[in-house]
Amino acid sequence: MENTLPTDDQVIQACKEILANNKKHDYTVPAGGLYPHQWLWDSCFIAIGLAHYDIEGAMQEIRSLLRGQWSNGMLPNMIFADGDIHRRDRNIWQSWRNAHAPDHVATSGITQPPMLAEAIVRIGQKLKKVEQRSWYQDMYPALLAYHEWLYRERDPHNEGLVLLIHPWESGLDNSPPWIDQLHMHSKPLWVTIVEKFKLDTLAVLFRRDTKHVPPGQRVSNIDALLYFTIIQRLKRKNWDIEKILSRSHFTFQDLTFNCILIRANQHLETIAKTIGHRIPEDLLSHMKKSEEALESLWDGFYKQYYSRTFITHKLVKEPSIATLMPLYAGCIDKERADELVKLLKNPKYFSTEYPVPSVPINSTWYKELGYWQGPTWINTNWLIIDGLQRYGFRDESRDLSKKTVALVSEHGPAEYFSAKSGKPGGAHQFSWSASLTIDLIQQLNKDTEG
Ligand code: GLC
Repeated sequence: MENTLPTDDQVIQACKEILANNKKHDYTVPAGGLYPHQWLWDSCFIAIGLAHYDIEGAMQEIRSLLRGQWSNGMLPNMIFADGDIHRRDRNIWQSWRNAHAPDHVATSGITQPPMLAEAIVRIGQKLKKVEQRSWYQDMYPALLAYHEWLYRERDPHNEGLVLLIHPWESGLDNSPPWIDQLHMHSKPLWVTIVEKFKLDTLAVLFRRDTKHVPPGQRVSNIDALLYFTIIQRLKRKNWDIEKILSRSHFTFQDLTFNCILIRANQHLETIAKTIGHRIPEDLLSHMKKSEEALESLWDGFYKQYYSRTFITHKLVKEPSIATLMPLYAGCIDKERADELVKLLKNPKYFSTEYPVPSVPINSTWYKELGYWQGPTWINTNWLIIDGLQRYGFRDESRDLSKKTVALVSEHGPAEYFSAKSGKPGGAHQFSWSASLTIDLIQQLNKDTEG
């Protein structure tokens, strides 16, 4: 029998069904079983797709995220589901140790890339003028508080770059720059011993992910232990940033996170302008500084941007998908953007059969299905596509959109895919892959009509 690919309408329909199945109460989980809670940037990506056909659902997705906001403005990367079976997850974090944590929901004590402003604006674009204003008015205080928190707590030296305290905050958990640095600066002696005597297999007992997905596709046991030790350390400080920073805690000025923040600031300005609010001067000056500070992450020799450690300001010269994120930030000049597009088109680097690999294929870190160390992810493709469009790389963005949609048409909205063969990995019905595919198909169709 001939194996024909589904039509765009069929793909959209399948994606909608997956999103409906993953909806729990008033939010959508990333994938049933493997990810039973609400995640910050997942819900933002989900709302972007929902906005095309269920605007109320998209608004509800974002409103439900704000349940978790701390009184200091922090938005946690996870809001835990209720119920006895999730007690262990809630207890690992004990957000209630911090006076700013909300009373009625248990959350993590760390954040995730600030995609909120983008999601608010994408929803806003689907609304009539009056409704848009009231939506923005509704969302503005929480969004403003979040951006103020990011600079107040995470940019203590007023450098324009915010720092992260756990790799999960980057959203790219085991990306090479993080893992490289954690092994160098944040490895307790007991983990070294566990590694040496190969006792790490015991960690499997405590891991949920490897019960759902082959271990070879996830972070290593040693890396999982490192994540866990960081949580324990942060929890002992009651998630209080002053106490955390007063110890020699490993902190990182992450490239992806800061690029997303820069774009989010631009959206915040749009929202404020629409509703006639003046962004406080202090925040405005931080926002301006961020755009300038991105340049300090550029390396003239390798002609690319990198993350750097907060304490030493040393660039961590391990390329990864973050390398392309300044395109999404949108504040770099055209010359720099050209350099990044060269890397995107280089077959030794990012140009694979099923782009864009989360680590260049010529890197020693590259692993075909190694979570954030090789596979193609739909959300990072979406961010790159959006950046390419704004820089006027029309052919490149269309090409990448089509290839991204083709991956999902062929294999369904998996969590990630091999960049070489397209083989799907991780969760097979992954919410943001579904929702962003809906968005990409709509954009491609609109483009063709236009
Ligand atoms: C993993 C991903 C992270 C995502 C979460 C839920 O931790 O690395 O980016 O938000 O799963 O999907």
